[in-house]
Amino acid sequence: MGFTHQALFTVLLVFMLFSGHTYTEECAGCPIPANLSDPMVQKYAQDAVAEIKKETNHMSLYYLEEIINATVQVVAGILYHYELIVLRTDLYEGLILREKDLCNVDVWVKEWEDFENITVNSCERQFN
Ligand SMILES: *[C@@H]1O[C@H](CO)[C@@H](O)[C@H](O)[C@H]1NC(C)=O
Ligand SMILES: *[C@@H]1O[C@H](CO)[C@@H](O)[C@H](O)[C@H]1NC(C)=O
Ligand SMILES: *[C@@H]1O[C@H](CO)[C@@H](O)[C@H](O)[C@H]1NC(C)=O
Repeated sequence: MGFTHQALFTVLLVFMLFSGHTYTEECAGCPIPANLSDPMVQKYAQDAVAEIKKETNHMSLYYLEEIINATVQVVAGILYHYELIVLRTDLYEGLILREKDLCNVDVWVKEWEDFENITVNSCERQFN
């Protein structure tokens, strides 16, 4: 009983000490929702689209329509996890073909080392 209260008190104290600090201190290693307006979050989303283009079809035009969701996680650098709506446009025999894909991409960066590793986990065509 005494132990429980003490443990609870310690947890509360630690929480109070670290709340209000940046995510690195709040929950090291846990993914937290990213600020979608953050220029870096947007930049890496664009890099993700460039990688999707590189890995799929160089001839198509790819356009980032929307960042559906993004989380950031501190893992020896920062891991951005994205759900993106990517608009793909192809010209085929004079026709313009458009396709919407929901892509799941990880961008792992270590800014101080200029390291960036992009993993395209999936891209699924959206019919709507
Ligand atoms: C999100 O990022 C934008 C642009 O940097 C900034 O103006 C805004 O205050 C941020 N919002 C939060 C909740 O941090
Ligand atoms: C964003 O992704 C995280 C982690 O997968 C999830 O917990 C959260 O609910 C998602 N938010 C939205 C708005 O989809
Ligand atoms: C990037 O990550 C992929 C898969 O996680 C790995 O195969 C590849 O070697 C990595 N590239 C670099 C430069 O670390």
